[in-house]
Parts: sequence; structure tokens; C-alpha cells
Amino acid sequence: MRVAVIGVGYVGLTTAACLAHLGHEVIAADVVEDKVNALNDGRIPIVEEGLEDLVQTGLEKGLLRFVHGSDRAVPEVDFVFLCVPTPQDEDGSADLSYVEAAAATIGPHLRPETIVVNKSTVPVGSTHVVERALQRDDVFVVSNPEFLREGSAVHDFLNPDRIVVGADSATAAIKVTELFSAIRTAVVVTDPPTAETIKYASNAFLATKVSFVNAMANVCEAVGANVRDVVLGMGYDKRIGSAFLAPGPGWGGSCFPKDSQALVSIAEQAGYDFGLLRGVIDVNRAQHQRVVDRLTEMVGGSLAGQRIAAWGLTFKARTDDLRDSPALEVIKRLTDAGACVTAYDPTHPSGFESFSVAGDALSACDDAVALVVLTEWDEFRWIDLGKARARMMAHRIYDTRNVIDPLAARRAGFTFAAVGLAG
Ligand SMILES: NC(=O)c1ccc[n+]([C@@H]2O[C@H](COP(=O)([O-])OP(=O)(O)OC[C@H]3O[C@@H](n4cnc5c(N)ncnc54)[C@H](O)[C@@H]3O)[C@@H](O)[C@H]2O)c1
Repeated sequence: MRVAVIGVGYVGLTTAACLAHLGHEVIAADVVEDKVNALNDGRIPIVEEGLEDLVQTGLEKGLLRFVHGSDRAVPEVDFVFLCVPTPQDEDGSADLSYVEAAAATIGPHLRPETIVVNKSTVPVGSTHVVERALQRDDVFVVSNPEFLREGSAVHDFLNPDRIVVGADSATAAIKVTELFSAIRTAVVVTDPPTAETIKYASNAFLATKVSFVNAMANVCEAVGANVRDVVLGMGYDKRIGSAFLAPGPGWGGSCFPKDSQALVSIAEQAGYDFGLLRGVIDVNRAQHQRVVDRLTEMVGGSLAGQRIAAWGLTFKARTDDLRDSPALEVIKRLTDAGACVTAYDPTHPSGFESFSVAGDALSACDDAVALVVLTEWDEFRWIDLGKARARMMAHRIYDTRNVIDPLAARRAGFTFAAVGLAG
């Protein structure tokens, strides 16, 4: 089938490349011309396993191409996927201006009977917002929320746990499910408001799980239990499951913070005080500060003038996405408290004003009085801690991701602490 994808960010680029991989003819558009040009040359602007190969194959087979400007992408297609940002507005609700602008741009250029599929995460009722912005009564609007995880986006898109389609028209719903017919999974067909709610409910539940385990980690520290074994023991229970039970510096990324806040706001506007979710958000904020407090304690009560090494900047491993990264939030609080931070991340980001970035993990340790691990990159698991120790002024590690073996760290001569580990 012929498909247009509007917005080639993390979701749009994955959607475009995977739909081409499934055999559809895809034309993907973005407002950023440089990005479009790079993509037409087969270069992708993000770190995402397997994505570059799919883009290159799609280009070679003639099933994928990129254009600047969404109006140029849509006139010949049967489906248009909206994959534009829905950032947090000042009042905590989702900002729909990108979705509305994209819909208003493509509206006049659509063929009758085109199915506009909204993949952006949007509040209940947004399908009607898109319908209004399109100003067309001869096209369909369908909600198809995306559940992929950055870091395994291609795998998740092609092997989803379920596909959710929210449509008022049964014909449009069936056509959208046919697009994905090569993917064997459960398909939930429902109305648009329910589809939109499923996405927020799923993210809010996952955020709740992480906040719960972070709170549990704090209890473990207080009572002298080991959180690593606690989550192992919990995770074997099929009713609980081990996914999203890893304690850390608090959740972040481009989705959980804005989507959980948006759901609080959606509920509030509808007259329900979602106290549980507000608590989940509060626990998360407190977790960022807890990392700073424990580190302050480790270095003797004050961070002022202390040189700290930070390993990891992205919000999680296997992505280059820094949006709302807990690592950046923790580092901001460290530098606000007077610490001098040198960070390292395998994706080599740059352009930070308040801290410097080293070219490798060991260089980040030079003259530091403590090392804090903030992202769970595999290279930190296997690093030679003796070499790190040799470059530091004082020998302390605070591991917020539980990637360093406590025994190995202590054997290498470090004072070691981790989230959820007493002592
Ligand atoms: N990133 C994720 O892991 C993820 C997962 C599931 C759902 N979502 C949701 O998907 C949506 C997109 O997220 P993302 O992370 O891919 O965003 P992103 O910021 O990475 O990408 C958005 C892209 O849209 C482009 N764009 C903006 N306005 C446009 C317009 N009018 N026409 C064409 N292109 C336009 C931008 O230039 C950018 O390239 C959001 O609603 C998000 O909540 C994201």
C-alpha cells in the first residue's frame, strides 16, 4: 500500500523504515531539510539498532524516500501517519500544536478516502482535533498509538505485544489492520478515545512500576535489604513480571515525564484527582534528589568544588536521546551545588555549558573524588575499575543503575554504594 509518514523523528523514522520493510511504498516528510537530505543519502540522525540498515534497504528497493514538507508527501497515498511531537505544555497538558499544524498542512492535498493515522501520543478527543484541522469530511482519522521503546524501536515495531487501532469507521479500522497483516500479534480494535487512553494508561502504569521499585530501593537501603535480590524474587511472580523493575536515578526520556503529567491533567479536566499518579511523579522527582544527597554524603557533606565523574548522559542505554534524561537532571543538581562534573557517554554528545564531556570513560575519572554511574551502558559493566581508580583523587563509586559488581568495586579499593544497597 502507499503510505506517507509525517515527521521522521524516533517514531516516524522507525515507522517509515519498518512499513517499507513490510513491503509498503513509503514517502516520509519532515520540516527539517538537512535531516531529509541526510536520510535520502541513507544516513540516519539517531542511534537506533537496525534502523540504518532498514533505511538503506528501503531506499535501494525504491520503497522508501524522504521529502521536505508534508504537503508533498500526501497527494498519492492511501494512508498518512502523523508522527509529530506532542510536548508538554506549560500547564502540564499535551501541546497539540504540531499535530494541528501538520493536519492543516496536509488537509487540502489528501485524496478522498485517505486514512489519516495518528501515531503521536495525544489526549482523549484529539482524533476530533485532527478531523477539524484537516477540514475534510471525505477522509478518515484513526488512532494507532505507538508503544516502541527507544533502543529497541525496530524490534518493537516489528514484534509488538499488541497493535491498537481506534476508529469510528469499521472500514478504516480494517484497512489499518491490513497494513500490519504481516505482523503476528494481538490487535485491539476500539473507538478513538479508548485507543488514546490505552497509550497514556500503559505509560503511566510503567512509570508507576519504576517509581514503586525506586521507593522499594529506598526501603531496602533503610532496612538493610538488597534490592537486586528483592526485584529478582518479585520478578519471578508472573503476576508482577521482571520488566521495569530496575531501580535507578528516576525515570525520564521523551515520553514518561510528559505523558504522566498529561494524564494527571486529562483526569483533572475530567473532574478526577489522579492522586496515585501524582504520587508516582513526586517519587520520581525525589529520586533525582536522593542521588545527589547520597553522593553529597559520600564526599563528606558538601559538593562545592568537588570534582565528580559521571558515566552516562542518555536517559537509558542504546539510544542517543537526551530528552528529560535523569542523568542530566542529576548533573544539573550536582553543578548547582558547586560540583565540577566531567561526564562520559558512549554516544559522545556535546554542547553542554555547565559541565565538560570526556572522550572515554576513564578520562572522565581524572582527578575525581567520586564516580557516579547514571546510565546502564554495557561498557560500564566490564570496565577495568583498577584503571579508573588509578586516575581518581579519592575512590568512591555511587552506582544508580546497579551495573557495577559491588564486590569487584570493593576489591578494586573503592568505597561503593548503589541505589537500593545498604551501607
Ligand atoms: N520517542 C518514543 O519513544 C515514543 C514512543 C511512543 C510514542 N511516541 C510519541 O510519538 C510522537 C513523536 O515522538 P518522537 O520521539 O518521534 O518525536 P521527535 O521529536 O523525535 O520527532 C518528531 C519529528 O517531527 C518533525 N515535525 C514536526 N512538525 C512537523 C510537521 N508539521 N511536518 C513534518 N514534520 C514535522 C520534527 O522535525 C521531528 O523530526 C510523540 O507524540 C511521542 O509522544 C514517542
